[in-house]
Amino acid sequence: MYQKLHKNRSKLMRLKMGKTGRFILSGHYCFLLLISLILGWVLLFFHFLVVVPPRGEGLPSASILSSNNAVLLPIFQSQREFLQASPLPFSNKKLPDFSPAKKHLWQPLKRFGAPNDTCAGKYIYMHDIPKEFNQDMLDHCQNISLWTNMCTFIANTGLGPLLEDSEGSFSESGWFGTNQFSVEVIFHNRMKQYRCLTNDSSKAAAFFVPFYAGLDVSRYLWGGSTTIRDSASLAMVAWLQNQPEWKVMGGRDHFMVAGRITWDFRRKTDEQSDWGNKLLLIPEVKNMTVLVIEASPWHHNDFAIPYPTYFHPSKDSEILEWQERMNSTKRTVLFSFAGAPRPEIETSIRGQIIEQCKRSIHCKLLKCDLGASKCHDPSVVMKLFEESVFCLQPQGDSFTRRSIFDSMLAGCIPVFFHQHSAYSQYAWHLLSNHSSYSVYIREEDIRTRNISIENVLLQISPERVQSMREEVIKLIPGILYANPQSHLQTMKDAFDLTVQAVVDRVTDFRMLMLEGRQIEDPKGSDANEGLKAEKESVSVIEETTRRWEGKRRKGEQEGAHFVKDSASDTVTKELKENDEGVIFETLIWKKDLLKKEAQRQNRIL
Ligand SMILES: *[C@@H]1O[C@H](CO)[C@@H](O)[C@H](O)[C@H]1NC(C)=O
Ligand SMILES: *[C@@H]1O[C@H](CO)[C@@H](O)[C@H](O)[C@H]1NC(C)=O
Ligand SMILES: *[C@@H]1O[C@H](CO)[C@@H](O)[C@H](O)[C@H]1NC(C)=O
Ligand SMILES: *[C@@H]1O[C@H](CO)[C@@H](O)[C@H](O)[C@H]1NC(C)=O
Ligand SMILES: *[C@@H]1O[C@H](CO)[C@@H](O)[C@H](O)[C@H]1NC(C)=O
Ligand SMILES: *[C@@H]1O[C@H](CO)[C@@H](O)[C@H](O)[C@H]1NC(C)=O
Ligand SMILES: *[C@@H]1O[C@H](CO)[C@@H](O)[C@H](O)[C@H]1NC(C)=O
Repeated sequence: MYQKLHKNRSKLMRLKMGKTGRFILSGHYCFLLLISLILGWVLLFFHFLVVVPPRGEGLPSASILSSNNAVLLPIFQSQREFLQASPLPFSNKKLPDFSPAKKHLWQPLKRFGAPNDTCAGKYIYMHDIPKEFNQDMLDHCQNISLWTNMCTFIANTGLGPLLEDSEGSFSESGWFGTNQFSVEVIFHNRMKQYRCLTNDSSKAAAFFVPFYAGLDVSRYLWGGSTTIRDSASLAMVAWLQNQPEWKVMGGRDHFMVAGRITWDFRRKTDEQSDWGNKLLLIPEVKNMTVLVIEASPWHHNDFAIPYPTYFHPSKDSEILEWQERMNSTKRTVLFSFAGAPRPEIETSIRGQIIEQCKRSIHCKLLKCDLGASKCHDPSVVMKLFEESVFCLQPQGDSFTRRSIFDSMLAGCIPVFFHQHSAYSQYAWHLLSNHSSYSVYIREEDIRTRNISIENVLLQISPERVQSMREEVIKLIPGILYANPQSHLQTMKDAFDLTVQAVVDRVTDFRMLMLEGRQIEDPKGSDANEGLKAEKESVSVIEETTRRWEGKRRKGEQEGAHFVKDSASDTVTKELKENDEGVIFETLIWKKDLLKKEAQRQNRIL
């Protein structure tokens, strides 16, 4: 309801300002108010008659696209809904104050931009932060992780080395050995190419802080003292606070990416044995929007964005070809699972899932054992997903897994067992109608009732399967990150959808402030007493998650007997030119390195 009214109010303001171009507070205020209310009701009435476009710009409609570019008409057009992951509370309606005194708050709004400025309302100001918070970490990449040579993975603007296609499961170009924790580097490089960057902070709809928070913490996750783990985050915040741009909205208009799961940034105590740093608990950071690959369902300042997949296309046509291929590929396996059991986690259903898969003639299992396993050759994994109708996605050490996105990229319908594996996470990138693109089987039903996954899936009609698969395929552009070295033409990738959602969220904050209202923290924030009861049960789950995480780390540590490769021995370099004539150094990964890396990563899947 709040959103509807908000939308109508926005329209109202556009109408009012349409003629004079300026909104002036006058003595006829009451009269205006009356007119506004009448207009408001008329608009509300029409709201139900006319199809209202989705919030923000949404995806361009087919007709717009065809008039622009007949060749690139996407067949798979997703009617993605722009959900607010945390709807803002609606209280008494107040008119926004567009007086000169509040210019700093309203100036960046789209309606106050030049009519012909296509960037109005979505300008981003990227902070030029000290190099110690980003570039220095890349320059000392060998120090980022104890177990993984991140130098390999930060190559090619964060996409990693080009992949060899051992199984013929990739398309011709755009496939890279991307590490699941590289998203902050990729996002930063995409942002450098964002068409609406500005250095004029008064125009900026939102402010991006290119801090590599995940790379930072991963340097010290195993062994660094709590003081060391927190130091870069605290220094980053101290720097931000001193910027004039920060003070305008107390950081409500600032956002950044922390490319790991939220539990790595939510350390509860200062005990040395406690996991992670406390980035997300810093008061200033609580005002920001922080993008992570798995968000906490119980906090309000972090939002989930997709894990990176292996596919980073440079052109719309590469995506369209891929979508068509995934729609027409022959799927011979009803359901499949790629992953390892979790014997150390009592409540894990992975053991049962593996058992069920082994028993069923309709299931194909790719077990990720320690040592030699094909389960980390991306080409092998993608091939499995491409030949499967359904892909099982039980939670692992935490709720989410990268495999969700790899399998959806392959047009495989995901089967979820936990609400927090995707539904409560990727609200900006997936669909609110979960049953339209996925199957849900309660974890409880597997654990206690030994429900047969095979039977559940066999009962779904071929028409439903076809319709779900088409929905999954429509979602593909929005769950991948395009190659930052080029531009997609009309399609919106995960980066585009995220930036749009962040700008919408900040716009809501602006409106609240212009209406003189308090910004309340909607999800179960620490300050919110009303949700205390919910929080108590929640903290048990949170603890469990964190314990699992701890165990995973131990596993990761056990895999550390693999010796670190020096990147230069196993990787060849090539100079490549992109469409815009810019030459990039491209690293190509040699196969044996891929295998070794796969073994090292074994415990993570
Ligand atoms: C956009 O507006 C500016 C300033 O009013 C004007 O100089 C420019 O010619 C306009 N461009 C177009 C394409 O209308
Ligand atoms: C990287 O790690 C090595 C070995 O642990 C250490 O000697 C060196 O000082 C570190 N470099 C930086 C820049 O932190
Ligand atoms: C902003 O300023 C920096 C440094 O002066 C410059 O390199 C960059 O191109 C500018 N960006 C825009 C969008 O004007
Ligand atoms: C957070 O934002 C609010 C405005 O919504 C501001 O009053 C407050 O000072 C900010 N908090 C911090 C720690 O900057
Ligand atoms: C996908 O494939 C089915 C046939 O398997 C076909 O009916 C449908 O039109 C295709 N969808 C698109 C968008 O090409
Ligand atoms: C959700 O999707 C399913 C399957 O496509 C459809 O039957 C159902 O009506 C949809 N629900 C809503 C609320 O749109
Ligand atoms: C689950 O059911 C299958 C048959 O559907 C049976 O073979 C298996 O033993 C059962 N497992 C448990 C743990 O009860």
